[in-house]
Amino acid sequence: MSSLNLSQSNIAMIGLGVMGKSLALNLLDQGFNVTGFDISEAHRERADSEAKELAQQANKGGFVKAADLKQVLDSLVKPRVIALSVPAGNIVEAVIDDLLAAGLESDDIVIDTGNSLWTDTEARDQKYHGKLRFFSTAVSGGEVGARTGPALMASGDKDAWNYVQPMWEAISAKVDENGLPVGQFDKGEPCAAYLGPAGAGHYVKMVHNGIEYADMQLICEVYHFMYDVLDMSAQEIGGVFAKWNRGVLNSYLMEISADILQTPDPVTQKPFVEIVLDKAGQKGTGLWTAVNSLQEGAPAPTIAQAVFARAQSGQKSIRVNGSKLLKTHVQPQCGLSKEETIAELHDALYCAKLSVYAQGFDLMNATSIKEGWDLDFAHIAKIWRAGCIIRAIFLQDITNAYQSDANLENLLFADRFVEEVHNRSFGWRAAVANSALTGIPMPAISSSLSYFDALRCETLPANLLQAQRDYFGAHTYSRLDEPESSKFHITWSEAERKQLIL
Ligand code: 6PG
Repeated sequence: MSSLNLSQSNIAMIGLGVMGKSLALNLLDQGFNVTGFDISEAHRERADSEAKELAQQANKGGFVKAADLKQVLDSLVKPRVIALSVPAGNIVEAVIDDLLAAGLESDDIVIDTGNSLWTDTEARDQKYHGKLRFFSTAVSGGEVGARTGPALMASGDKDAWNYVQPMWEAISAKVDENGLPVGQFDKGEPCAAYLGPAGAGHYVKMVHNGIEYADMQLICEVYHFMYDVLDMSAQEIGGVFAKWNRGVLNSYLMEISADILQTPDPVTQKPFVEIVLDKAGQKGTGLWTAVNSLQEGAPAPTIAQAVFARAQSGQKSIRVNGSKLLKTHVQPQCGLSKEETIAELHDALYCAKLSVYAQGFDLMNATSIKEGWDLDFAHIAKIWRAGCIIRAIFLQDITNAYQSDANLENLLFADRFVEEVHNRSFGWRAAVANSALTGIPMPAISSSLSYFDALRCETLPANLLQAQRDYFGAHTYSRLDEPESSKFHITWSEAERKQLIL
């Protein structure tokens, strides 16, 4: 059935762009009645015709196309559940304020499904307290994920979660008992979870995107090296990536990279990547993650490098000039055979990915402690196993690591990963050395290795750094032979050098 009477919809979707429409169709697929609204007539009509077509099939929900927010409210079962799929920013509040003006009640639930900044979500939770039940659910998986099974990271009012949980679990991606994705209508463990108070879900999604930025950059660096130094064609690199995707590197990003590299441009028939302008765009979630890492002093250098790499790619005209002006001695090739170098790159990519995830989880841990969220990292790794953009086979290993030790100090300390990195770190080091020798930049792979090496250093040169700070700014230092809380300063003029206790 495609037309509903008043108060029969289980949920309304406001914003029927790519993500909103796909989520609405997914809800219909799972048998829920949905109301759709968008200020764009074109979006409304497109969603209406696709929803009507779907609703004709057996066991599907019904769809109502609302003309305004009053109709949205009238169409819903109480308490009303209204999901917003609108651009992050002020528009979220503008729509909520319009809903309140149209008669939204304090028991009604409004869910922000966009990529909102987590601190905005916290502020909205406060702002609307008592006026409505504000809830958020960050969605990962792009258009296809939203349509057939995304990963859903929910947070906010716990009662609201209890109410929407059956819907979210029904539409989310699912995994089988081995942690592998199953089909849209198959039974399995849902990739939807309540992660904590307001802001927690959007925060976890932000870090997911930071990891996504780094993961993409790592793959791009390997492609760059293979293309420029190993002289491999895009097609050939795609073939290697497809092979890697059958092993420990299996992931959605590896799969699509293999596919992209083996696809010709429909216009020229050249390899598609060869006709794409090498200037990366970004909407900002990777930047937010990097800024958060810097602000919290929880190092996620590879995520920051991935953001910088996008920025430097954007400086195309400067790079064109640099390519002519900046001469340096480079080694055109690396010493080993092509096969051996490819094997090293494989291990470099694996270890670098692991280092990135360790950085991301460490950052989440720092914020979880600060905010008092008590994030469950095994659960987060679990819901990232399917549906989301960074889904990868090794998220099952990460799940296992946090299930064995919920308080793991760093992901790289898990037994499984200690051993993996030990076995594969030579390839990681060789890739970074080859990057330096051949002049092919690997900012993300290099920084992932530096993070790992710093993690292995009992002593870092911050002793000299503290002395420098004390020398020019009397910023004080702690001594190894005194409690850390005791602060000292040296009067640095040679005539009267003495230590002061502060
Ligand atoms: C997802 C994606 C999605 C989107 C990001 C990244 O999890 O489904 O992360 O949220 O692709 O906004 O976009 P940019 O690369 O443009 O920043």
